[in-house]
Amino acid sequence: MIVATGSGGPPVGNTALSGKTVLLGITGSIAAYKSLTLLRDLKAAGAEVRVVLTKTAARFVPALTLQVFSDHPVQTDLFESENEMAHIHLAQEADLVLIAPVTAHFMAKMVMGLNDDLLSSILLATTAPVIIAPAMDLGMWAHPATQDNVSILIKRGLKIIGPEVGRLASGKTGMGRFSEPANILKQVLNIFSETPPLMAGERVLVTAGPTEEAIDPVRFISNRSSGKMGYAIAETAKRWGARVVLISGPTALPEPEDVELIRVRSAKEMKIAVERFLPESSLVVMAAAVGDYRPRNVAPEKIKKTGTGYFIELEETEDILAERPTGPKGQVVVGFAAETQDVIENARRKLKKKRLDLIVANDITAEGAGFGVETNIVHLIDAKGKVTSPPKQLKQHIAEHLLKAALEIKQHRTNR
Ligand code: CTP
Repeated sequence: MIVATGSGGPPVGNTALSGKTVLLGITGSIAAYKSLTLLRDLKAAGAEVRVVLTKTAARFVPALTLQVFSDHPVQTDLFESENEMAHIHLAQEADLVLIAPVTAHFMAKMVMGLNDDLLSSILLATTAPVIIAPAMDLGMWAHPATQDNVSILIKRGLKIIGPEVGRLASGKTGMGRFSEPANILKQVLNIFSETPPLMAGERVLVTAGPTEEAIDPVRFISNRSSGKMGYAIAETAKRWGARVVLISGPTALPEPEDVELIRVRSAKEMKIAVERFLPESSLVVMAAAVGDYRPRNVAPEKIKKTGTGYFIELEETEDILAERPTGPKGQVVVGFAAETQDVIENARRKLKKKRLDLIVANDITAEGAGFGVETNIVHLIDAKGKVTSPPKQLKQHIAEHLLKAALEIKQHRTNR
């Protein structure tokens, strides 16, 4: 049995649940009121949540409240919907079915395969993974019938979160307490990110953010890159099982968990860091907006006003991507092209010039694309010239497209 550990606020942003549909089933336990918090936390983690209540659960937590929290109709009865196939639709659209809390009675029904209401019918119809979080009094949990049912469900591949030892509704203390919603979410994320480990064994190097080139001790030249695209790529690769090194220029973004973060400022520092990690990387994604120019001379003291203006002579920085060392056999290299005109043509030219396998072209002047915003509009162009243009979407979803395209290129190579 999985035992919950730790607690804390819900994770937000790019998580294993981002964009996934979770069917939250609530059965008739006193702990059902905690499902409101769970519902809110699942949404904060990026999930679309559909709620289905059993009749008894509706006595503990009102359907209307859940409806407001989930932004979707909440159903209980198999026959109340105009669509008599509602259970099939709900079963099919779910990426995950989470029943929390689940009662001893409902688990017994699951074991028998009975389907006398909407939730139990969905369970028979779904092919999505099912996770249950039991809540009941200690005697009911310890009963051999319940324990046998739990082992049958585990054997069938269901995951169980909790229950925990603690104070119960009856006033007694023992095993049967519903896990805290924050713990349930944490474990759901762990379980859910186990599948699919698309990038297990991959070593991914990502560059992100702007670079800064010093003018004097207090001033620098930089650009408007927020680093969001590169961080989304690093986090997604990590979530898909890769070992990730993220070389980042200065950004205001939180440090991604379980990613090796190397902070740099100038193009030169970024180049040194890339040269260190590139030879051992199976996939390289250069999403950083590297500054193309730096002051030829950096003033050692703060430049004073003279009243006559000031000229700074700039020289080109090194092109990290074009001048990169040769990588290991099979390495896939992805570059970005930030363009304001002739987007595809210019990107194609860069792909050739910089010897890339894939280039992600974006028109940084388009609304909902480029620097600072949460979304992006990109064209993925491969070395054969094939262009794929996913619709405008969150940077984390663009990151998924990009990594899948890079994996396909890898796959083709190994099949050849
Ligand atoms: N790049 C780099 N080093 C530089 C400039 C760019 O490694 N000094 C990388 C970027 O990380 C990106 C790709 O090269 O993956 C293209 O960057 P972009 O700024 O679009 O193109 P540039 O080569 O700088 O060309 P231009 O600014 O003239 O469009």
